[in-house]
Amino acid sequence: MSINPKSSKKFNRLENILIIGNGGRENSLAWAIQKNELVKKVYLIPGNAGSARINKCERIKININNKSELVEKLNFLKIDLIVIGPEIPLADGLADFLRKKEFKVFGPGKDGAKLEYSKSWAKEFMEKANIPSAKFWKVNSLEEAKKIINLSSTPLVVKADGLASGKGVFIPDSKDECFRAAESIFNGKFGNSGNVVVLEEKIQGPEVSVFALCDGERYILLPTAQDHKRLNEQDKGPNTGGMGAYAPAPLLTEDYLNKIIKEIIEPTIKELNNKKIDYKGVIYFGLMITKSGPKVIEYNCRFGDPECQTIMPLLDQNFVFLLEKCSMGNLSGNEKINNSDKVSGCVIATSKGYPHEYKTGLPIKIGEVDSVDCQIFDSGTALSKKGELLTNGGRVLSIVCQDKDFDMVFEKAYKNLKEINFDGIYFRSDIGHQVRANFSKKN
Ligand code: AMP
Ligand code: GLY
Repeated sequence: MSINPKSSKKFNRLENILIIGNGGRENSLAWAIQKNELVKKVYLIPGNAGSARINKCERIKININNKSELVEKLNFLKIDLIVIGPEIPLADGLADFLRKKEFKVFGPGKDGAKLEYSKSWAKEFMEKANIPSAKFWKVNSLEEAKKIINLSSTPLVVKADGLASGKGVFIPDSKDECFRAAESIFNGKFGNSGNVVVLEEKIQGPEVSVFALCDGERYILLPTAQDHKRLNEQDKGPNTGGMGAYAPAPLLTEDYLNKIIKEIIEPTIKELNNKKIDYKGVIYFGLMITKSGPKVIEYNCRFGDPECQTIMPLLDQNFVFLLEKCSMGNLSGNEKINNSDKVSGCVIATSKGYPHEYKTGLPIKIGEVDSVDCQIFDSGTALSKKGELLTNGGRVLSIVCQDKDFDMVFEKAYKNLKEINFDGIYFRSDIGHQVRANFSKKN
């Protein structure tokens, strides 16, 4: 449903913004939004310990599933714009609910969030719209999966259909491993998210993340970014939520980005429109640049983490206007994202053991960190009763720096990381290796 701006009681004010979510992504959104002088207050539900360190920001303790209490609170706070960070509330239809209550919301409804919460639906969507992507088979049983795995002459990737906190994708090395991955999903490793399995042709190439802010019909692109999904250096080890990122991604030249716009971004928005899906939020295109051109690996209905933390410092104070325009369906199509002439890089400090089991509650010490062109966005932290900063997640802190080139950016990020300590701190020291001219010389 689209809001008629004139009838909305929230029209024409941008004083009180609400962000839903508790990660580094949401803290970086809050930090970018508060830069605008019209914004008086940014509330986070629930945010984390780092949220309160951000100018104008305040955490609210409320259960978003208690809908009547939520609406009462948001009306009381006179919330002008709501930004929903994570996929789960979007998949649960929170944006639809809040729009019905006449709030301006940046975030797709349940129908649009299906791009992320059903991989088979997204694959069928792409097939229908002729959007380049890996070949796929949707399977409903282990027997079906086994037949396809046995017949396949090329390696396959195995995916749980539904949401699995980034853990539902397996990249097996053999048919036997492939079969076991499918078996584990059908045996309930991801609950109902694994009732259907998607088998995909394994494709190859560097990955890049492209974000389109969409108002239902028109869109504007954010600077592109590259994530580092694997836990260990040289892109080895298990997949994680993301260990670091850089933006913009030099891999995407203007010409190549235009190709992506023509072959992927515009057909996606057109197909959403064909399906009468009024998508007001960000579409995250997870792309692989293969020898035969760009292909969609996955869609997400939210900003990437840590790509978001990396991109936000490159935007100016008008960012919040773009979010608002998207929420109201009135992008002109001519807006410019005011890109900084700097580049940005992010390194994530994690708890020992992540992405598997890890301890929480360990004290974090932060020494002298740069205050200019360097941000620390808490990803998973909490405060002790005495007010001491503690680890409270697998990904703990996002250290983000900007400078003229990527060598300077990462030199600064790693210098600042030396000032941060907690028991078992782990980070990759090769984030940005693809774009650091000095990297191979030093390592
Ligand atoms: P996802 O959780 O869907 O982002 O997938 C996690 C990672 O698995 C991606 O970033 C890719 O590195 C890899 N992946 C997913 N699908 C494929 C595929 N069809 N071929 C090769 N790698 C893939
Ligand atoms: N950085 C990957 C993701 O947000 O899914």
